[in-house]
Formats: sequence, C-alpha cells, structure tokens
Amino acid sequence: MPVADASRGKRAIERVGCASCHTIPGIGWPKGEAGPPLHGMAERALIAGRLANRPGILARFVRDAPALVPGTTMPAMPLSEEESRDVAAFLYESGK
Ligand code: HEC
Repeated sequence: MPVADASRGKRAIERVGCASCHTIPGIGWPKGEAGPPLHGMAERALIAGRLANRPGILARFVRDAPALVPGTTMPAMPLSEEESRDVAAFLYESGK
C-alpha cells in the first residue's frame, strides 16, 4: 500500500472543493461554514462526534460519510481510495 502523502491530499481537497463547506487550516480560500472547521483533527477523539478518530476511518469518512454516519449532511466526495488516505494525512498534519 503506498504511503499517504499530505501534499497530494491538499491538492485533492482543492480539486473537490472541501473548503466550500469547511474552514481548513492550510487552505486560504474559501472558508466555508456549512460544516465544522477542521482544525486540530490530530488531537480529536472522535470524527463527527461518533466515529473513532483513526487514519483509516477518517479516510473512509471523507470519501463516503453517509456510509459511516447515516443521515449525515456531509456528502460523499469524488475521491479515490488513495486520495482519501492522502486527504486524511493532510488533515492530521495541517491543523496541529
Ligand atoms: C456540502 C458541504 C460539505 C462538503 C463539500 C464537505 N463537507 Fe465535510 N462535513 C460537512 C458537514 C455538514 C459535516 C458535519 C457532519 C456531521 O457531523 O454529521 C462535515 C463533517 C466533516 C468532518 C468531521 C468534522 C468533525 O468535527 O468531526 C470532516 C473531517 C470533514 N467533514 C472533512 C471533509 C473533507 C476532507 C471534504 C472534502 C473531501 C469535505 N468534508 C467536504 C459538510 C461538507
């Protein structure tokens, strides 16, 4: 399995537009407010208040949140599995 790469994750975040709904450390613009700000993901115990915060789970969540949290308003996002791991790596590193 290739090692997750935070800089590729940042590019994927910019491509699919996560920041239209989230304020994300390391992403200057936009600073969306439909979803919670994504600061300090590395220190949190839970994702979306209910999932254990581990890299594999965060990667699945950012790709297909409704599959893990039925009824969530966070949509599934057009990321490959590899990109979703890169996105998780970026979120853990960017908000420290
Ligand atoms: C259409 C708006 C929207 C888009 C686009 C979006 N999200 Fe979200 N996101 C949300 C909402 C709303 C929540 C809160 C969901 C919940 O608590 O059930 C959320 C929750 C999250 C959480 C959990 C935050 C926490 O406080 O635990 C993470 C991490 C996250 N989103 C990352 C991303 C990433 C990465 C992308 C891009 C791949 C993205 N989101 C795209 C709306 C969005």
